[in-house]
Amino acid sequence: MPEASNPNATLSVAILSGKGGVGKSNLTLNLSYALFRAGHRVLLMDFDVGLANVDVLLGLSPEKNLQDLFRPEVTAAEVMVPVEPGGFDFLPAASGVPELLEMDDDMREVLFQKLNGVFGGYDYLMLDLGAGISPTVLSVAAMSQMRVLVVTPEPTSLTDSYAVIKVLHTQYGISDFHVLVNQVERVSDTQATFARLSAACSHFLGFEPQLIGGVRHDQALPDAVRRQIPLLRHAPKSPAALDIVSGAVRLHRVRQQRHDELLGGPVLGKIPTIRK
Ligand SMILES: Nc1ncnc2c1ncn2[C@@H]1O[C@H](COP(=O)(O)OP(=O)(O)O)[C@@H](O)[C@H]1O
Ligand SMILES: [Mg+2]
Repeated sequence: MPEASNPNATLSVAILSGKGGVGKSNLTLNLSYALFRAGHRVLLMDFDVGLANVDVLLGLSPEKNLQDLFRPEVTAAEVMVPVEPGGFDFLPAASGVPELLEMDDDMREVLFQKLNGVFGGYDYLMLDLGAGISPTVLSVAAMSQMRVLVVTPEPTSLTDSYAVIKVLHTQYGISDFHVLVNQVERVSDTQATFARLSAACSHFLGFEPQLIGGVRHDQALPDAVRRQIPLLRHAPKSPAALDIVSGAVRLHRVRQQRHDELLGGPVLGKIPTIRK
């Protein structure tokens, strides 16, 4: 099958992190929601194949998930769940299926052959990837048009994020990364955390990531999680919600800037060859 082209300039955004629990899933969900609210069509794909939980954040119990797509008779449409009518859809992942963490090239090929056809119907493909550096995380991050690392001001989050950037750079030659700093006390703290990560990248790898922005630590977010409603619906005027909306505006600018380049290429690129 030829690689699907990208007539709609769909921007694929891989959201990843060094360590878990930094807010990746909640940010992916709410960025997706913000983009949808701004009039864009969004497909949110849970690709945290080890510990999938976007379905829980949405209060959904999907019948099928990514794993079902490996059955020849199951189509992408059967797995997709509408979150909001008019262009916000969700593709659930399987939780507790360790084999999927080490998806080989053939498995990815099977999966993306079914999915490439549907990706083009959206403006954004938002991928909630697992934490760390499993082969699946790395390859999907490398295939995406944009990579957003979610970091927190904790030193462990910073060192783990640097490790993810370094592996993607040394193995796949990627030097294009964006950073979202979550759980900052004040918006003005964002820059200090970003500067530390950026300095390490600049010093050891010779390039700097780009900042998307900061999201404040906000009790409204765990409240929304408990209620299984996206923060943007639960508390749309809360500090974290406002910060996430600003982040979505930045993502939209990236898509506008890259529009022509996106049109020419596939939504998810070729599986890159690993450098030895
Ligand atoms: N900005 C924030 N303010 C307050 N709590 C947050 C914030 N971001 C994340 N959290 C907390 O962290 C928990 C884990 O978030 P989650 O999105 O599931 O992380 P990940 O997907 O990275 O594992 C949330 O349930 C919430 O309690
Ligand atoms: Mg998660």
